[in-house]
Amino acid sequence: IELQRPVGDRIVFDDLENFSFRVDHRAYTDEDVAAQEMTKIFDRCWLYVGHESEVPAPGSYVSRDVGGRPVVMARGSDGVIRVFANSCPHRGALICSQPAGQARSFRCPYHDWTFSNQGDLVGVPLPDGYGPGFRKSDFGLARHRSDSYRGFVFATFDPEQPRTLTEYLAGATEYLDLIADQSEVGMEVIQGAQLHGARANWKLMMENSVDIYHFRALHKRYVSYIESLGTMAPRRRGGFARALGRGHGANELVPAAARPLAYWTPMFPPEVRSRMEATAARFVERFGAERAQRITGANRALMIFPNLMIIDAIGITIRKIDPVSAGQMSITSVALAPKDEDPDIRELRKSHYLTFLGPAGFATPDDIEIVESCQRGYLNRTLRFSDLSRGMAKEVPETTDELPAREFWRQWDRLMHDGDDDHEEAQDVTQRAERQGAQRR
Ligand code: FES
Ligand code: FE
Repeated sequence: IELQRPVGDRIVFDDLENFSFRVDHRAYTDEDVAAQEMTKIFDRCWLYVGHESEVPAPGSYVSRDVGGRPVVMARGSDGVIRVFANSCPHRGALICSQPAGQARSFRCPYHDWTFSNQGDLVGVPLPDGYGPGFRKSDFGLARHRSDSYRGFVFATFDPEQPRTLTEYLAGATEYLDLIADQSEVGMEVIQGAQLHGARANWKLMMENSVDIYHFRALHKRYVSYIESLGTMAPRRRGGFARALGRGHGANELVPAAARPLAYWTPMFPPEVRSRMEATAARFVERFGAERAQRITGANRALMIFPNLMIIDAIGITIRKIDPVSAGQMSITSVALAPKDEDPDIRELRKSHYLTFLGPAGFATPDDIEIVESCQRGYLNRTLRFSDLSRGMAKEVPETTDELPAREFWRQWDRLMHDGDDDHEEAQDVTQRAERQGAQRR
């Protein structure tokens, strides 16, 4: 049953001539818009499912919701990673109720139909009740199209999705490479996810996660805490915002101290610090000075449309942001790290992950509180628009510009109007259009 009416008037007002970019608050508050997002965005795009390291061995699996659908990502006994609908082909029950584990087969608890970890139906109790037309091969688990890029596994529910994952990711691959290259033997998700919610629209958290403009204002307690310790403050030294095509964006900033972890935090014992410097030196050998500097010397936030953020600063956080309703989201965060990391550095990484970007850390509670405050502010329906035009009139975008958010919204707008997301050349379309505008000025 289609319970849809089209998005009536425009939601996104993109005026390159006047350097104005506004989004109607109904994009965040209207349940009809939220319902349409599920079919026009989440049923069409490639969506992040998880990281290959979460299913390291044949038989490992995780189960989670992706785009509002329960799925299982399993590595079969043949070593292949597949993404299945977590729903029994008999009468629909979840065939997997554990968040993660190891299994040769999945048994549906309702009538005990049993499926191999490659998705085949292998056992049916009381089979004598079925006629000759009943073939087990017709009742395997429904499999979603999936693929991975550098260890990051995505799936799409659109059988007509015209793009390969790599095409879909467009310019975001450059940033996934900068993350995946941080270990020669591979990256891994540190066990244990943080799950929390916020009473705000999911897109507010996407905007917030790639927004550097707010850092000094909203997180001033954190900044002053670091300053009070007499260690280096995370002073902004430079960097840039990027539109990466197809709704993806990033910003990159060169912080006051080097990576792979934030040196400026006070708790680095000198011997750990020198080991970290040795790690950084190995990057120079592997990649040459320039790329090594970019990998180890810059922080970055990568936004992959529609709902994945990878924040590679003070450790690496993978944040999946899911709509629950127009005014409610759920957030799942995990930490990513080099598999071969020095144990002391790993401990520091975990502590940074928890104390900064964790749901009870220094930063995230501020962010959650402020996106909830925006959502409440929208109740004043006379103030209809958010403005996201910062940096639109500039030829070279700075990290604090709202360019990545504009790239997100332009793609959102195209998809919500059933438009094709095809550009002649996916990357930098937004940026080029804005630059031309700035030059005309
Ligand atoms: Fe799964 Fe019946 S619903 S076995
Ligand atoms: Fe923040």
